Amino acid sequence: MLIVNTVCEAKKILRDIKNSGKSIGFVPTMGYLHSGHISLVDQSKKDNDFTVVSIFVNPTQFGPNEDLDKYPRNFVRDEKLLRDAGVDMVFYPSVETMYPDGYATFVNVERVTDPLCGAKRPGHFRGVATIVCKLFNIVSPDKSYFGLKDYQQVIVIKRMVEDLNMDVDVVGMPIVRESDGLAMSSRNVYLSPDERLSALSLSRSFPLVEKKLKSGERRASVIIKDVEDFISSHPYSRIDYVEIVDKDSLEKLDFIDRPFLIAMAVFINKTRLIDNKIFEV
Ligand code: PAJ
Repeated sequence: MLIVNTVCEAKKILRDIKNSGKSIGFVPTMGYLHSGHISLVDQSKKDNDFTVVSIFVNPTQFGPNEDLDKYPRNFVRDEKLLRDAGVDMVFYPSVETMYPDGYATFVNVERVTDPLCGAKRPGHFRGVATIVCKLFNIVSPDKSYFGLKDYQQVIVIKRMVEDLNMDVDVVGMPIVRESDGLAMSSRNVYLSPDERLSALSLSRSFPLVEKKLKSGERRASVIIKDVEDFISSHPYSRIDYVEIVDKDSLEKLDFIDRPFLIAMAVFINKTRLIDNKIFEV
């Protein structure tokens, strides 16, 4: 497994791979890897001849009061996981490499960044789109893999790729969960055992939605209220948002007349967790 820290070296290696006729699959990450990340790697290995994973905690996607400084990092552990998963190359650049002095260019995806996490984390998707655009330019992947746990992120990246005529196929992959339903996340390490119990309230609210739909309820506000009441009844929880939106445009739905996405962000004490699920009606 190659470990590459500079843009110049990464581009040279990947140009040679391309020229030899091999396809490149790419999984961008911020490290502190878990089975959710590895599921993306596994798919990339199935679909492509050469799999690249990037590890970069991207400062431009964190807000001033967010957890950039304490975001978990452990390159030695990540390296072993990626080696075991059969990754061909890890791109692990420094902040100075990605954002050298004088850096001034950002990618701003409009509209699909307005609701949900975009509304609650101003500038977040500008940072995400910028770093993913840069990484795509460095890696030139044929396919790139993203988890639907960050559903809005997948929509934003697909929008950017289409609008900027990028030659990469963006693949959205299912959410990987712990056996009790908690969506895997690097941030789960922040949770104490008690907080972790409360964190289950996100995924455990989905059967409530199913039940309401079965009973014939179609008013989004009623379903949202049920979910909010359920989550709020758990200690340490503070709801950032619970929304019901069109699964493609992410526009808010008042009345449910088509397949929809329920998406939520909840603080469990200081840890902000997200989850979502698509429902067919
Ligand atoms: P990170 O949070 O490290 O996630 C990297 C990729 O793993 C993302 O596509 C994310 O959706 C996916 N992922 C995380 N948890 C998952 C789970 N439980 N099941 C399936 N996939 C999961 O997302 C980012 O990093 C960054 O924003 C990045 C795209 C790397 C840009 O900096």
